[in-house]
Amino acid sequence: VPRQLVDRLGRPLTDLRLSVTDRCNFRCRYCMPRELFGADHAFLERSELLGFEEITRLLGVLRRGGIRKIRLTGGEPLLRSGLPELVAQLSEVDGCGFDDLAMTSNGVLLPKFADALASAGLHRVTVSLDALDEPTFRAMADTLVPLSAVLDGIAAAQQAGLGVKVNTVVQRGVNDHQIEDLAAWAREQGVCVRFIEYMDVGTTNGWVRDKVVPAEEVRARIDALWPLEEVASEAAGEVATRFRYRDGGGEVGIIASVTKPFCRTCTRGRISAVGELYTCLFAATGFDLRTLLRGGCSDRELHDAVADVWGGRADRASELRGAGGLSGPRVEMSYIGG
Ligand code: GTP
Ligand code: 5AD
Ligand code: SF4
Ligand code: SF4
Repeated sequence: VPRQLVDRLGRPLTDLRLSVTDRCNFRCRYCMPRELFGADHAFLERSELLGFEEITRLLGVLRRGGIRKIRLTGGEPLLRSGLPELVAQLSEVDGCGFDDLAMTSNGVLLPKFADALASAGLHRVTVSLDALDEPTFRAMADTLVPLSAVLDGIAAAQQAGLGVKVNTVVQRGVNDHQIEDLAAWAREQGVCVRFIEYMDVGTTNGWVRDKVVPAEEVRARIDALWPLEEVASEAAGEVATRFRYRDGGGEVGIIASVTKPFCRTCTRGRISAVGELYTCLFAATGFDLRTLLRGGCSDRELHDAVADVWGGRADRASELRGAGGLSGPRVEMSYIGG
């Protein structure tokens, strides 16, 4: 019997976020500020990335170890060529795939890929959208791509039959004036928007606590327009607090990673595009699984390596974050996919 994947705080490993590339076609100021991710930034080489066969094998071993939920991330995952093919392979793992197979994307390439992703077996996408007015959107994403490209991506995903959620990172003085507009728009579209407290992920985004808009403030502002009631979370380890509009207008979520950390129920592992296992979004380094994979290890050895790393885990960075934010080195958002 393989060893259980449970950490020192009793948290099982049931969800995995897998980054497939560290590249992105946006340069969101809170994630990849252009002055630090410019033309001379050393992105990963193709040969360094785990290949689809390597990923499928690793995730098969982890499925047998108890992983039920997979989220593909980047950078922008759709910049990885042939992504629908990977989705197809993952949907077939052990003949049954995963209970939940999702992707987080900036949406721009969804008009091109949504149908292929849905046919390959992707269940749902979460699209990042920080503003509905063009200047705010462009300033935050630091891109010349028009807002309409993201909206077209969301529509394409809906038409393809994918489940769709929208993520909005809220920054005070930058896009907090957009909260009500985004909520209204999401109600009309029938999508769930989740407002995310701006986090000090990585060390390049210039995070300051003053720019965090607390979840309670977001909730109160939406509640003032459309009364809300909290909904009990369905899935264990869910990051968003969910609210239902009392008038039947659907649901909205708030991700309070700063003011109400959810480390206690954190069942998420993260794998970088080069195959390093990170046990926390705020970890400095990850454990190299690629060397094992490329060195001809058995499935048992792979499982045991993950069990060792996860078994030693005691991370709860968000709970330990002081008033001034985190200190010390930590992985960048675009490298680990959030
Ligand atoms: P669902 O399965 O749809 O609930 O997806 P998700 O919210 O887990 O994933 P998504 O990629 O949409 O992430 C939403 C936000 O939550 C992003 O800002 C993530 O960085 C953040 N997030 C996700 N998991 C964690 C976590 O374990 N810790 C912290 N601090 N933030 C997380
Ligand atoms: N704080 C909170 N959320 C962030 N994201 C990227 N950077 C940050 C940050 N510093 C969001 C993206 C994407 C998700 C994976 O994480 O907008 O929706
Ligand atoms: Fe790209 Fe997403 Fe980071 Fe924006 S938040 S730069 S879209 S990876
Ligand atoms: Fe999990 Fe680390 Fe996020 Fe806490 S801060 S919820 S331990 S990833």
